[in-house]
Amino acid sequence: MQRLKGQAALVTGSSSGIGAAVAKSLAAEGAKVVVNYARSPKGAEAVVAEIKAKGGEAIAVQADVSKEDQVLNLFEQMYEAYETIDILVNNAGLQKDSAFTDMTLADWNTVIGVNLTGQFLCAREAAKTFIRRGVVPERSCAAGKIICMSSVHEVIPWAGHCNYAASKGGVMLLMKSMAQELAPHKIRVNSIGPGAIKTPINRDAWETPEAEASLLTLIPYNRVGDPVDIGKAAVWLASDESDYVNGATLFVDGGMTLYPGFATGG
Ligand code: BGC
Repeated sequence: MQRLKGQAALVTGSSSGIGAAVAKSLAAEGAKVVVNYARSPKGAEAVVAEIKAKGGEAIAVQADVSKEDQVLNLFEQMYEAYETIDILVNNAGLQKDSAFTDMTLADWNTVIGVNLTGQFLCAREAAKTFIRRGVVPERSCAAGKIICMSSVHEVIPWAGHCNYAASKGGVMLLMKSMAQELAPHKIRVNSIGPGAIKTPINRDAWETPEAEASLLTLIPYNRVGDPVDIGKAAVWLASDESDYVNGATLFVDGGMTLYPGFATGG
């Protein structure tokens, strides 16, 4: 039994990494998926091809989620293809790291623009449709589900990454405020807080055995995460199995948020 049968899902930034895994996991559960990308048509087409090869439905649509006109066009294209939206996964995100005093305004604005403003713009468009259409009982008990891709850095401060940590802290209260405001419309809004997951965004942190060993000192469960770990969590949060979960961040991090430094000290 497919848990998301017939539902239309948009996964932003799904041409690689966590987004690609989430798109494939949702499709495997029967969702029709819009694979959004900003700069990598090849990656997005590969995700679409993989989904189709397994009997699923997907299309690739280009849009930079930090730009309002591009987001509006993304939703138009989604509605042309699938008529509606049931699931939004606000996944698109990036890092532009630097020491705080070297951080340029441009890098600050790019990170806040994609990671935070992009989530606002996409969630606003999805919520409008959820409210207008309401619950379709054959598909889900909820009128719509929004899943924000946050990070352990919505709670863990991160030197050298002030723009990124600020964007994820912002996502936390954006998510909770939306959840509070939209709940009466039967819309559920939750976040996933991934820890260190093996993707291109943090290649330096796991690529060599030395880097991986150092990273593992921050992960009590003693393995680096796989994008599929996040795909499984996204399916659960999008499905009716989590129908009473609203306004929560589900950390999928092997215990990174458990203050591992205190395992032997304190
Ligand atoms: C960042 C990764 C980092 C992980 C754990 C994520 O949000 O994008 O670069 O490895 O958090 O620190």
